[in-house]
This record gives sequence, C-alpha cells and structure tokens, in this order.
Amino acid sequence: MAADLSPAGAAGSGGSGASTGGAGSGGTTASGGLGGSGRGAGHAAGTGGVSAGGASGAGGEGPDLGGRIAPEIGLKVAFFGDQSLGASPRAVLDLIHQEQADLLVILGDFDYEDDPEAWLGQLEGGLGEDFPWLAVGGNHDLAKWSKYQPMIERKLAQIPGIECVGVAGHQQSCSYRGVHFVLSRVGTSGSGHEDFIRDELAASNHVWKICGWHKNQRGMQLGSKGDEVGWRAYQECQNAGAIITTGHEHSYGRTLTMSNIGDASAEHGAFGDWDSVEVGAGKTFVVVAGMGGVWIRDYHPDLHADDLWWATMYTIDWEMRQGAGQSADHGSRDAGALFIEFGADGDPLKAKATFKLAVPWGRVIDEFEITAE
Ligand SMILES: [Fe+2]
Repeated sequence: MAADLSPAGAAGSGGSGASTGGAGSGGTTASGGLGGSGRGAGHAAGTGGVSAGGASGAGGEGPDLGGRIAPEIGLKVAFFGDQSLGASPRAVLDLIHQEQADLLVILGDFDYEDDPEAWLGQLEGGLGEDFPWLAVGGNHDLAKWSKYQPMIERKLAQIPGIECVGVAGHQQSCSYRGVHFVLSRVGTSGSGHEDFIRDELAASNHVWKICGWHKNQRGMQLGSKGDEVGWRAYQECQNAGAIITTGHEHSYGRTLTMSNIGDASAEHGAFGDWDSVEVGAGKTFVVVAGMGGVWIRDYHPDLHADDLWWATMYTIDWEMRQGAGQSADHGSRDAGALFIEFGADGDPLKAKATFKLAVPWGRVIDEFEITAE
C-alpha cells in the first residue's frame, strides 16, 4: 500500500511545490504525452512522481537522484500473465486486493476462451471497477484483439494521473505515480517494438523503469518455449536498466542480476546475490510471472539444467530457492503474482519484491530486494 506522498522527504527539499499530483489526487498534466522534451519536471508534476527540481534540490535528506523522477514512496505494483477464467485466477485477484496493490500489470494471455466480456467481468469482479490496471496482449488474445484492445484503452482513460503514449496493449509507454512502464507485443504481433522500447527508455527520466511483454527467449523461461522475442528487446531494457517482466511459460522464474543478456556462454553476465538484484545502466534482471491462474507446467532440466542465471524457480515438479533446487509436486492450478513495492523503507532507490501464491493461499516463494543506481 502506498504511503502518503512526501516528495520532499523522499528525495530532497527543493522544488516540492511542483509535485501537485500526489497519491490519489488524480492530477493530470495539460500537456500529456511522454515523448521527447515533454518529460521532466512538468511530467512529474502530473503523475505523483517527485519532480526533477525536488529530486535534486539542495539540502534534501534523501539520496541525490541526479534530477530524475522518484517513485511514489511505497507504491506497490502487481504483475502476472497467463490468467484464464475460474477459481485460481479469481484467487490471484483476491490476493492483489488483500495485498493492497496500487496497480496491476497483466502480461498477456487473458482468458484463453476468446471471451473478452468474461475476462473483464472477472477482473472487475475481483478488483472492483475503479482499480487501475495495464495490460499487454499475448498470443491467446489475438483472435479477439479487436475487442480486448478497446477495453484496455477505456481502462487507461479512467486511471487518474496516468500518462501514456503509443497504442494501448500493443506498444505503449506509461508513467504512473513515478514509475515508467514500457509494454510491448514484441514476439506476439507487429513490428518496430525494439526501436520503440529503446526510444522510450532513452527519453525516460525515471529512476524505475519496467519493460513488459508476454513471450520469451528459451533461455529466459523454465519450460520448453522457444526463441520468440529475440534478444534485442531484452538488451534494450538491460541497457536502460529497466526491469524485464514476462509471461507465456506457465511457471515462475526470476534471474540474478544480468549484464550480458543474450550471451548464454557467458551466463548472460549473471552476478550477485540470490536475494538482492541491481538495476542501472547495462544491468537488470528478468521475471517470468506466468502463473496468473492457468494450469502450470513442468520444469525442463534437459533444456535448463545448465542455466546458472536463475535465482528462483517454481514449476509444477521442481522448485529452486536461494540457488538450491529440489523436486516438487505442486498443484496444477497453483497461482500467484509478483509484487514490487517501490521506494521501500522510504528510499526512492530501493524496492522490495515478493512472488506470493494465491493457490495455495499466501505462500511466499520469492523475496528479494532491488537496488536502483
Ligand atoms: Fe502465451
């Protein structure tokens, strides 16, 4: 749950008057848009992020953010893909409600039944009609995309304070309460995604940036999925220090910090601790959160036993925590979500993340800290 916004306390005393879009205020900027020079202090003023002036103000007590936009302290964002309809996906929505998340990001493959109305009904039934969420399409959403896409667009129009450019659910860049999300159907539909990701992240002035898409590269998931995204999308996010969130494979996996994504022979540059990862120029980590409620899948040791870049795994027949793997006999409809709390402990450069199950209820299977440069 987000604490009250306190820009001055979070990141310096100067210029806090510019931040008018505090928690829940619904403020929006007149200018809109995230492109090019439109970013910066004016942008921050509308979204609850700490303004550039505030972040770099002299005499502040917080860390020097170099004029960048800080997150709203305590902002909690939930992530999952691969949802479906029924008891397990409903339990995940209940968990998100109980955890008092401030935003949900849905990483594709919505209901698996080409039933947009049922999907939206389940979502709004679980979270309420006013709960803010973003969604990006997956392969199972293609047949009825012409129905899903306007639903995503309508939702965005209702979220107070969010600012987005691009095409909703397809190739989009949004700022919400001081965190920047770049969502893409790379590997699923359309082209030009890598350039879009690069350009939006290059223009970003946010401390915290998130990339989100549905599909994977084989080495960036734990099952049998192949190379469907290409490395460049991952590399653009790594270059910018943006957290990479994905779905598609129906299990949970989270990597160590990586600095060389795409080079498996160098273990993708994986380094650091199991429970502490870093983001910054040239380094990030990858999450597969494909347990939004649909049946989960098994681990493929034939394909992944030599993958030394994982920190945590949860599949139907195998789990790994803190580097120690063991056989498992999990339920086929086990389900859960990743939660990231930005500005943890009042520090705009720190986040705390958990992957928590809703089925079985409440079990935490991953817990780690993220430090931003
Ligand atoms: Fe998928």
